[in-house]
Amino acid sequence: MKKMYRAIRPLLFMCPPESAHHAVLGLLDLQAKLFNKYPEWALQRPEHLGGLSFPNPVGLAAGFDNHAAHLPALFHMGFGFIEVGGITPKAQPGRLKPRLFRLQAEQSLLNRMGFCNLGVDHLVENLKKRPAGQIVGVNICKNTDTSLVDALQDYLYCFERVAPFCDYVTINISSPNMPGLRELQDSDYCRNLLKGLKKAQSAYADRADRYVPLWVKVAPDLNVEEIKVLADIFCTQKMDAVVATNTTINRANVSEQWRDQAGGISGRALNESADAVLAAFHSAIGEAIPLVGVGGIFSLADAKRKCAKGAKLLQLYTGLIYEGPGLVKDIVTGL
Ligand SMILES: Cc1cc2nc3c(=O)[nH]c(=O)nc-3n(C[C@H](O)[C@H](O)[C@H](O)COP(=O)(O)O)c2cc1C
Repeated sequence: MKKMYRAIRPLLFMCPPESAHHAVLGLLDLQAKLFNKYPEWALQRPEHLGGLSFPNPVGLAAGFDNHAAHLPALFHMGFGFIEVGGITPKAQPGRLKPRLFRLQAEQSLLNRMGFCNLGVDHLVENLKKRPAGQIVGVNICKNTDTSLVDALQDYLYCFERVAPFCDYVTINISSPNMPGLRELQDSDYCRNLLKGLKKAQSAYADRADRYVPLWVKVAPDLNVEEIKVLADIFCTQKMDAVVATNTTINRANVSEQWRDQAGGISGRALNESADAVLAAFHSAIGEAIPLVGVGGIFSLADAKRKCAKGAKLLQLYTGLIYEGPGLVKDIVTGL
């Protein structure tokens, strides 16, 4: 699998990144239609966390399958769980193209997609057709034109719509691609937002007799003080998991030509800061809330390092683009 991906990667890298992404997903859909079977090796390292049983701890990160339109193909790769989205209440076009770039020398990506998506109702229609018995989470966000003061209404709308059709929900307050979004990590905004969503979670649990875990996703650009404050809020609000991290606005690890380009960096250039933030949350939270490690995982060694820093589950995105789907098997069977 790895050799095959290495052979076709130069061809893929000749296409614009967004087109390559959709072309590959189309091919994977076809492959899944012909040989739709969840691989045996993917079942060999189960993990139980917050009431959910994961066949293995390696997940697909948000932003890869925004509308849950390719779940059979992606589970076919052996993922233990898939986070779809980010999704907003209403459809929005996102930023102008080009908005996704390969930084090949840095083995990284720069994206400023700006939450282009068809809205939560479209996602829900796809979730109704999701493969049974697999774990699917939804990454939710506010619309770009919703003010921070009104943000809770958007998150609540998304939560209510997706809760019946998914296994967990991730509250995205850390994408750098929506102006001001990261201010929701400021203590007052954050406390109110999480409190409101936990109330909705509890009301839904009473109503539907089903607890849908709420995860929260943080930025890699937080300092130690900010992490301590957030960790305290997450513990008080009894968040079900913390996903560390989203993409970075730091340009220290990329060459000159990318320094002034807007967007978030993922991949190898993110690895160090994502690891540091993961470790800082682990020392602030301990085992009180499980941590999901994401950011720059390109190998089994990267995955092991995340686990050593406190991650119970992992997520991949950019590593898949550079290393191919064989990376999932390497990690799952090697851990
Ligand atoms: C094109 C693209 C779109 C993304 N969209 C989202 C998103 O909608 N919501 C979110 O929380 N993270 C999003 N992310 C961030 C990833 O989920 C992940 O946190 C980040 O890329 C770091 O992991 P990696 O280094 O393995 O890519 C996106 C990343 C990329 C590259």
